[in-house]
This record gives sequence, C-alpha cells and structure tokens, in this order.
Amino acid sequence: MEKIVALSKRRGFIFPSSEIYGGVGSTYDFGHYGVLLKGNVRGEWWRAMLSERDDIVALDSAILQHPRVWEASGHLTGFTDPMVDCRTCGRRFRADQLGELQCGRKPSKHPGEYEECSLTDARDFNLMFETTIGPVKESGATAYLRPETAQGIFINFKNVLQFSRKKPPFGIAQVGKSFRNEITPGNFIFRTREFEQMEMEFFVPPHDAERWFEYWLAERMRWYVELGIRPDHLRLRAHDPEELSHYSSATSDVEYLFPSTDSVGGARWSELEGIANRGDFDLTQHARHSGEKLDYFDQGSGERYVPHVIEPAAGADRATLAFLVDAYDEEVVAREGAGEGERRTVLRLHPRLAPVKVAVLPLVNRDAQPELAREVWRALRALVQAEYDDGGAIGRRYRRQDEIGTPYCVTIDHQSLDDRTVTVRDRDTLVQERLPIEGLPSELAARVAREWRSPKLGGES
Ligand code: GLY
Repeated sequence: MEKIVALSKRRGFIFPSSEIYGGVGSTYDFGHYGVLLKGNVRGEWWRAMLSERDDIVALDSAILQHPRVWEASGHLTGFTDPMVDCRTCGRRFRADQLGELQCGRKPSKHPGEYEECSLTDARDFNLMFETTIGPVKESGATAYLRPETAQGIFINFKNVLQFSRKKPPFGIAQVGKSFRNEITPGNFIFRTREFEQMEMEFFVPPHDAERWFEYWLAERMRWYVELGIRPDHLRLRAHDPEELSHYSSATSDVEYLFPSTDSVGGARWSELEGIANRGDFDLTQHARHSGEKLDYFDQGSGERYVPHVIEPAAGADRATLAFLVDAYDEEVVAREGAGEGERRTVLRLHPRLAPVKVAVLPLVNRDAQPELAREVWRALRALVQAEYDDGGAIGRRYRRQDEIGTPYCVTIDHQSLDDRTVTVRDRDTLVQERLPIEGLPSELAARVAREWRSPKLGGES
C-alpha cells in the first residue's frame, strides 16, 4: 500500500489534501490521472447501470435536503457508532474496532488492551455532519450533509415514477458525494469523511425481492471481475444479524483483500460495496413522515403495493483504490531503450479504466517527427483519451506511461516519415507492431473497448 500511496503522489493520481498547511485528517485531492481514472470507474458503473440495460434511470439529487428526510430515514437516531475515549492519550476509538486499533500507548500482549490505557464507557456518536441553512444560526435551520445518496432517490420516487413510465422492477441510480464524520478514518482513500458513492435503488414487487437480491449480488461481483480484479482477491460476505443496518433485512458485502497502511499491517478483507435488501422501510417511512403516497398501483393485477428495494451501494473511491492496488505490478524487463534488466513498475489496468489510452511519442525531437506525432495525436484524441509526450529519452517516456497504466504507446520514428507507419507498443507484453497511421484511431479505440483478460491471470491483453 505504501507503494500505491507513493505512486499516486508521484504520478499525480491522489494528493493528501491541504498539504501546504500540514494536511487535514484523511482528506485527499485527486490529480489529473486520478480524475481520469475515477471518472472511468464512474463511467463503467453508469455503463453497467444505464447503457447496457433499459430498466434503470439516472438521478442527481441535492446534498442538502430537508432535515426531516433524516428523521424519516432513521439516520438522526440510528446512524451512530459506539465510541470510547482514552483518558490517557485523549484519542477516540470505535468501541467495536478496539481489537484492531492501537491507542497512543504501547499495545499490551492481549488483543484489545493497551498499557496505560484508560477507556471511558461506550457512547453513541452520530456520524452526520451538521450545518445551518441560511445566514443565521437559529433553531429550525439545522441541516445535514447527506450521509448516503440513497435518500435523495427515495424522496424522488414519485417524480421518477411519473416521468419515466417505468414500473417495478426498475431502478434509480445516482453517483455523488456523501459525508460521514467517521471516528477512525484511514487506510489512504479507503475510509474518508468525504467520499463518493455509486448507489442504485432497485424497486421490485415484494414477492420478488429475494430473487432480485441474489441477482444483484452476482451482477456486482461480475462487474469487478470483468474490469480486471483478480477473483481470488474478491469475496461476498453476508452480514450477521447484529451487523445489519437499521433499514436492512439482509446485506452482503463485496469485499476486497486490501493491503493495509496502518501500524498493524497485513492484508484484510474490506468492504467495497454493500448490497442490501431494504424491504419497504424507506418508502414507508417517507410516506408516513411526508403524508405523500409512495406506492405503486399495478393496473395489470389491480394490486397496490409498496415496492421493496434492493440496493447495490458502492464506494467510488474504494473501487478506484481497489483497481489501482490490483493493477500494481513490478517486473524486470529485458530490454527497451533503457537498458538490460531494468525494473519497471506497471499498472495493469483494464484498458477501459486506464486514465490515458494511448500516448503518442516522437522517437526524437527533430526531423519533422514531432509534427507528424502531433498530427497522429490529433486524430487519436477524437476517439480516445490520448496524450502527446516528447520530453526525455524514449525509455523513460515508456516507463512513465507504464506507471500511469497507458495500454498503448504509439511511436513515430524515421520510417514513419517515409511510409506513414508507426510502432504500437503493448503495455503488458511490450511487443511492438508496425501499423499504418491510416485507420489507427479506430483500430486502437476498438482494442480499448473490447473484452479484456488481465495478464495477471495469464490471459491475453
Ligand atoms: N446507502 C447505503 C450506504 O450508504 O451504505
């Protein structure tokens, strides 16, 4: 994980936030390649939710909502973590995570105990960030930064039903920032107080909820594997009854085997996405609190019912981190401009996730090669995210593209000026083939979009 953190900073994926002021706990800023990568993760999620099916519609609801939304949803009373304070070092811990964490003092040999440690009893701590609406802090103006995007979907159920001509089973999908005042954030961008969710609420007839729950478990696992995550780094884990959120009758997490950055070290299974059966909890609660009817009348059967909801709720930042971690590889390469036996770092990202699909590189910075390279870049960038780079030795430029996961490097050399062909270097195999410039954009766009099997699994790239 330290290598990922270092590469993220070095190559402009992710920076610690407010660094020039000494940083602010567990907040991060996404740099150029991080923005492109996370944008592609989002894009693939939208593709799976919207473009490849016709039973889900999109929504983008406000972060600030009526405070009564959180009363109805149960978050005002139920969205809490038990916390304890250490009287010795003043630090605060989640009571349910004490076994995994260290106080500011030396841990004792017994898990969950720390020398000198003097813990208070557990108290409930609400995770919502409070703010005020309007310029005056008066009673009634209290609002909350949304702790999940889901409620924005439930409160728009009636609007969407009216305009979309959908009927259950159908879904509403949303991507956006949410905020939780976590007691113990950490592990790079894995747990942060400001984070991005990709949530979809799928409304189904009550008798069909079980079947759809199983369906979405399989669909969501498939999504991660298709985008290159090693299947043995993924698992589905069903929540124990006491672990379930207040709204859920069944939840399974998609978990990824993350390396850890904390002092305990080692790898641990951590949640990428929760898939919950929320039953009719949310629509019923909002109907009760708002006085609006939030149900569905099925004209075919003459039946009126409150749909049940299956919710796949993924973290965009967590998914981005998992794709980064799983793609990270180091190997010794035999040759290539930069000499024998050089170690290279390469991100073997799925080409559809790679921030840059093609880099265009003149071999040397003279003899009209830069001009032709720019012409090729202009043609490519109309179809795929392409980058032009003429800075430094060719071997170093290849290494840089490897480190940001660029699947193809197109090099313009002396021969290119004679016969309008270029070399196309494959990130994973390092094989270079010579292709004509004419037709190159559509050829490379097709390669990026096609089915892909990770070379980590022994497949073809
Ligand atoms: N909406 C479920 C979650 O935020 O975890």
